Amino acid sequence: METLQEHEQIIAMPRIGDKAPEFKAVTTQGDINFPSDYKGEWVILFSHPADFTPVCTSEFITFAHLEDKFDKANCKLVGLSIDGLYSHIAWLRTIKEKIEFNGMQNIEVKFPLIEDITMEVAKKYGMIQPGESKTHAVRAVFFIDPKGMIRAIIYYPLSLGRNFDEIYRALIAMQTSDKFEVATPADWNPGDDVIISPAGSCGVAEERMTSTDELNCKDWFFCTKPLDKKDVLDKILKKPKLLAK
Ligand code: BEZ
Repeated sequence: METLQEHEQIIAMPRIGDKAPEFKAVTTQGDINFPSDYKGEWVILFSHPADFTPVCTSEFITFAHLEDKFDKANCKLVGLSIDGLYSHIAWLRTIKEKIEFNGMQNIEVKFPLIEDITMEVAKKYGMIQPGESKTHAVRAVFFIDPKGMIRAIIYYPLSLGRNFDEIYRALIAMQTSDKFEVATPADWNPGDDVIISPAGSCGVAEERMTSTDELNCKDWFFCTKPLDKKDVLDKILKKPKLLAK
């Protein structure tokens, strides 16, 4: 039976808009200070239930395969599970040497994987959800912005592998909102129309409905405008390095 203090630690859940809880950790890429080592970049901190399990293995192969794509969007990846460092190292070696998934093989996981046997980090981030498992972290995904603020959180149960297209889409959508001061509608992808903030006064509501510019107002509270895919990607993605002559 856990003490009240232990119970409170387990149910502590950082929320959207909170500062990302700080921690120091040992990882497969050396020690990290989180989130200060990632200042100025986006970071996705994600947990998985256990090393040497099939769903997690499929996720790691997929995430590692996409690492460069996330890096181009100025986003680093950091994984965590309640396993020790040597288990992590052995698992990542096995993944590279032996496992093929969806045509991806010989995949090296280069991003840090945190060892968290004490569950200190998992508890700080609400990754232990006792109704699902008391001993394994659920599949949590924390999107942390360049100022160290939590901007989005997605949780999946142990049996459900994540959708990495959605994780990338959410990252790009939040970066687009920041850069262009717009919101993004359901299923938005770069090149789709974006939503401008709802009218905050009767005057603006009237203006929106009678405007002849590029706004498309379905009603006074629901206005979209085009936003060119190239403009979005030019502003968000890192520029490719020019090859030296
Ligand atoms: C898996 O990754 O396959 C897994 C891990 C924990 C529970 C169920 C499935």
